[in-house]
Amino acid sequence: MLEVTVLTAFPRLFVATVDEGMIRVAREKARLAVHVVDLRDYSDDAHRTVDDYPYGGGAGMVLKPEPVYRAVEALRAQGRAPEEFIHLTPQGRTYTQADAQALSERGSIALLCGRYKGVDERIVEGLVTREISIGDYVLSGGEFAALVIIDSLARLLPGVLGTFDSAESDSFASGLLDGAYYTRPEEYAGRRVPAVLLSGHHEEIRRYRRREALERTWRRRPDLLRGASMDDEDRAYLAELARREPGRSGGGKAAGDSDEGGS
Ligand code: ADE
Repeated sequence: MLEVTVLTAFPRLFVATVDEGMIRVAREKARLAVHVVDLRDYSDDAHRTVDDYPYGGGAGMVLKPEPVYRAVEALRAQGRAPEEFIHLTPQGRTYTQADAQALSERGSIALLCGRYKGVDERIVEGLVTREISIGDYVLSGGEFAALVIIDSLARLLPGVLGTFDSAESDSFASGLLDGAYYTRPEEYAGRRVPAVLLSGHHEEIRRYRRREALERTWRRRPDLLRGASMDDEDRAYLAELARREPGRSGGGKAAGDSDEGGS
């Protein structure tokens, strides 16, 4: 069981979201518990203030230290001190599938959702064990980042996904992007499903899918190829791609290429 405690000034953002989809499944299977702590419950004034202006001036508000320290003290008093105390911030290390895998193996984590401009640095110095960003863009707070993380963890917990869509076949699990998928009908909008997928030849299908994954990764995210585990056949296929299109690796969908279907 993974226990996730979210510390936020906007607890209602978590009400419907943790009650749907894979997060709900993980909770119902008792693989995941999500506790949402309202930081305003730990403020010390009638207005339930949790933020204040930054010293030295500047735009935006900063999360005050006291409510966060008090909330953490309350967790400790209940014997629920988390193993990791994670601050969600664009200043953190960019979250990856490998981080998701590692965190999913923990017993308990806390996710601190900063708001406005950020959090008082004494929170980071005294409590935080790790800072995570979900990407190079700025959200108005850490709540949606926390939900991204919770969703990515829920689906990795044992028994949450069925065997048919096991997380092992996901993009990134193997270090490569996933290839294209098709479902019924065999022909739609004048486009046919690649014949090999209808052939019933398992080995050919496996090879085709592997090549599609390699090709897509080569075109869109060549940076991932360095970390992917590959055999001689994979390397030979990449060499063939490079021969076919010299000087062409990288770019991506936005560059106007078409790397799927039709062939
Ligand atoms: N808070 C604001 N922007 C964020 C981001 N990109 N990742 C994580 N937390 C954030």
